[in-house]
Amino acid sequence: MAVTIKSAREIDLMREAGRLLEKVHNELGQAIKPGMSTLEIDRLGEKLIRGYGCIPNFLNYNGYPASICVSVNDEVVHGIPRADRILQEGDIVSLDAGLIYKGYHSDAARTYGVGKISPEAQKLIDETRNSFFEGIKMAKDGNHLYDISNAIDAYISKFGYGIVRDLVGHGIGTQLHEDPQIPNFAQRRRGLKLRAGMTLAVEPMINMGRCDVAWLDDDWTVVSDDGSLSAHYENTILITDGEPEILTLS
Ligand code: MF3
Ligand code: CO
Repeated sequence: MAVTIKSAREIDLMREAGRLLEKVHNELGQAIKPGMSTLEIDRLGEKLIRGYGCIPNFLNYNGYPASICVSVNDEVVHGIPRADRILQEGDIVSLDAGLIYKGYHSDAARTYGVGKISPEAQKLIDETRNSFFEGIKMAKDGNHLYDISNAIDAYISKFGYGIVRDLVGHGIGTQLHEDPQIPNFAQRRRGLKLRAGMTLAVEPMINMGRCDVAWLDDDWTVVSDDGSLSAHYENTILITDGEPEILTLS
């Protein structure tokens, strides 16, 4: 599938999809506390998304059984919410959420500390977020796609963290996952040329230890193979002639 360039009308719809998703994330972030189950987070997220008149795009996506991916500690992404998975003080939790507004998708992820967390865990969260911003400095018309990948890798590698290779960012629009795929690690080629009107979900997934991941028996939950903590940070962005517009962060 070719990479789509969104029209002015489509960009307005993507902006609204992003604006509403940011609100959902902010409300979820404030709700996180020790003692909460990961299922409660999903229930609240779905209620918020539907309350804005939108559809949770993750629900039933390739059979995924929930609206929000809730991934705790060594879980990288796609954790399935459960009533018996209770957040504990000191945990870190990644919330990945998305919605459809008038046919247009948004997708964003944040990692939070639950109560007081270790300085090492906080640093992993902060540097994962920082790597997103390093990457998108390169995200402008005329640059190449893998300039983003290379910038994320160059930044993160300084810390000795493992950049997850088995999962990547993606184009987004009338579908949750569109071309192109966006790796978070260095590429030998420069990749396709970025053009104003492309909308992309850039989403570094970073392990404190090695980059290798494994899948749990539920066929969804991705964990770090060495059991180390993992963080995720994602926004939906719009490529322009200048600075990218971050649609899921104001
Ligand atoms: N942000 C996630 C991604 O881009 C979306 C979760 S897919 C789902 O892969 F199937 F878990 F919903
Ligand atoms: Co995504």
